[in-house]
Amino acid sequence: MKRHSEEEQGVVDRGEHAGGSGGVAGSERVAGGREDGAGGREDGGAAPVGVAPEHGGRRREAARRLGIPKEELLDFSASINPLGPPEAAVGAVRRTLAEIPYYPEERAGSLTELIAGFLGIAPEEAVPGNGSIELIYWLAAVLRPRSVLIVEPTFSEYRRACEAAGARCQSFAVRPEDGFQLDVTRLDPRGHDMVFVCNPNNPTGQLILAEDLSYLWQKCRSAGAALVVDEAFIDFVGPGASLLFRGAAGCAAGNGGVPAGLFVIRSFTKSFALAGLRVGALAAAVDSARRLRDSMPPWRINVLGQAAAAAALAEGDYLARTRKETARLRARLQADLAAIDGVEPLPSAANFILCRVAGRNAGAVTAGLERQGILVRDCRSFAGLEDGYIRVAVRAGHENHQLITALNKIMAAGDGR
Ligand SMILES: Cc1ncc(COP(=O)(O)O)c(C=O)c1O
Repeated sequence: MKRHSEEEQGVVDRGEHAGGSGGVAGSERVAGGREDGAGGREDGGAAPVGVAPEHGGRRREAARRLGIPKEELLDFSASINPLGPPEAAVGAVRRTLAEIPYYPEERAGSLTELIAGFLGIAPEEAVPGNGSIELIYWLAAVLRPRSVLIVEPTFSEYRRACEAAGARCQSFAVRPEDGFQLDVTRLDPRGHDMVFVCNPNNPTGQLILAEDLSYLWQKCRSAGAALVVDEAFIDFVGPGASLLFRGAAGCAAGNGGVPAGLFVIRSFTKSFALAGLRVGALAAAVDSARRLRDSMPPWRINVLGQAAAAAALAEGDYLARTRKETARLRARLQADLAAIDGVEPLPSAANFILCRVAGRNAGAVTAGLERQGILVRDCRSFAGLEDGYIRVAVRAGHENHQLITALNKIMAAGDGR
């Protein structure tokens, strides 16, 4: 096994990732499953047992497999606000249907102002996107980092976006025995142009405290590495958890603007349940934001997306209600999952829960649930979670109950051993 010079700090080659002494791992993907199935693991069964897909939310494919309407499925594989989109957003979409023949605002200037107000940054520091995924890809394409360090297991698209832009990616593995908590004192950004962390992290649900992130940001700044913090799920935690929160130690917008080299990604598709409409945002220093905007084509966010997001952001108490309701539903779901023999749910700060299904094949458990019309995220495609983990979204109470009943049946029957 090839060793890196950082060995003394717990740095290991990619092959040791799953075994987990922690630290940095080499550039190859451990879990290969791509959206199209290429490179996926083959365990000898039919999909979805054999191939771990890269993303959840694949209702249409599952409905086709089962030969039922997609509306009959319960989708726990994509983590979307259980309250659904704000009524004001749906109303705005209806009213905007008449705008379909017309071009949207080229740079979504009105929405950008609202986003900036929502995030507490200047409009010049905000870049709206067609979902946050678009901004992750643009960031990599425009900044063209050569060496990227990614805290994993996490959202696979950081690696894909950076590799597509020509970067070599390394993994800094957080370990199950540490509860997947990131120890920021162990992460060494030296030698990298860019570091990616997701907070709270998908799929582990772990939250990095703002002061730890500030410490990490100072380390990145000293090492000359950009820090990208993906806060796609932060609205489920609260405004104070965001690195953009005024007063967050040392690097918040309120303390003199977003500093050069820090990039914060936000998504409105999860917290406002607008996944089909695709709106997200990026916060960056004025010069970096301008450079990104200048590289992007016009009209990226369509009229319906712009209208829905604008209305959603103006909904005063919707996110506060979301947090209260999600916390209540999550606590109940957590307790019910923990009561199932063989299921170990991890604590989560977000609207999803990572569960260890000890001694079971995650693909087989996922397939068993799918046969009962329930979709969960088989986590085998996440580096470091190659087997024995599923992720479930927090949904409405009666739906969570259906998940519990179905999972109980599967675990009691010994399916997926
Ligand atoms: C952590 C994380 N970031 C970003 C995204 C992209 O979300 P969107 O493009 O819908 O904003 C996702 C989607 O699942 C995600 O899990």
